[in-house]
Amino acid sequence: MDALFYDIFYEMERQGPGDKTSTLKALGMIPDLPGNTTLLDVGCGTGIQSIHLAEAIEGEIFAVDNYQPFIEKLNKRAEKLGLSGKLSGRQADMFNLPFQEMEFDVIWSEGAVYIMGLEKAMQEWAKFLKDEGCLVVSDFNFLAENPPEEVYNYFAQEVPDAGTVEKTIEFIRKSDFRLINRFTLPTKAWEDFYEEQEKILIRYRNYYQNNKEAIEIIDAMQYEIDLYREYSKSYGYTFYILQKKVVK
Ligand SMILES: C[S@@+](CC[C@H](N)C(=O)[O-])C[C@H]1O[C@@H](n2cnc3c(N)ncnc32)[C@H](O)[C@@H]1O
Repeated sequence: MDALFYDIFYEMERQGPGDKTSTLKALGMIPDLPGNTTLLDVGCGTGIQSIHLAEAIEGEIFAVDNYQPFIEKLNKRAEKLGLSGKLSGRQADMFNLPFQEMEFDVIWSEGAVYIMGLEKAMQEWAKFLKDEGCLVVSDFNFLAENPPEEVYNYFAQEVPDAGTVEKTIEFIRKSDFRLINRFTLPTKAWEDFYEEQEKILIRYRNYYQNNKEAIEIIDAMQYEIDLYREYSKSYGYTFYILQKKVVK
């Protein structure tokens, strides 16, 4: 039944909350982006943000995701848009990235770094960045010091390292990265994401009405949508623009 979950996300424009304006805003916060940038997009999904990035920068973009059908959709999209010369997707595991040390000017990851945890990703991925290269992520945060119990219980399971912005800033301070900038993803990006997902869920619920296992998955996804609608002030995504310190 995992297949059903992936089928729903495959149909969507993107696989996590985000928007083009925020992607380009974060890109614009990178100091001294070189003329011929090499950028790695981790957990790219079907790659809408990879496409926005490819359209915005000079250079080469590598996009990775561990789900091959997402990569195939991304590569087809890139080809259709005439971007396949600068944007290419391949299947890879974020826990074991198949790249050389100091290969990239930028590592990007929207709505996916929570899978590994930002602190661990900073430790594991730093070696793939050139000196003063940037790591740009949108990561889950509680936006309230004491989130409602229902929110806390749900995300303690879904996002094991979930914490506040303040907690994130604290571990960034002790890391090999400096915090260049940060901002909260607008709630509209979440609303649009869930609006699209809910339409698909209604269609799937009708199709799978006699399939108990499928309905359980659909119910679980609807629960997440309803949770956001009730508690949107309590959590969200924060974009962090981080720069690798040069070790002398
Ligand atoms: C919430 S989606 C975000 C996708 C995309 N960045 C976006 O914002 O639309 C998380 C993505 O991470 C991918 N993913 C999950 N585990 C992964 C892993 N171990 N390595 C690489 N990608 C992974 C999923 O397949 C999914 O496409």
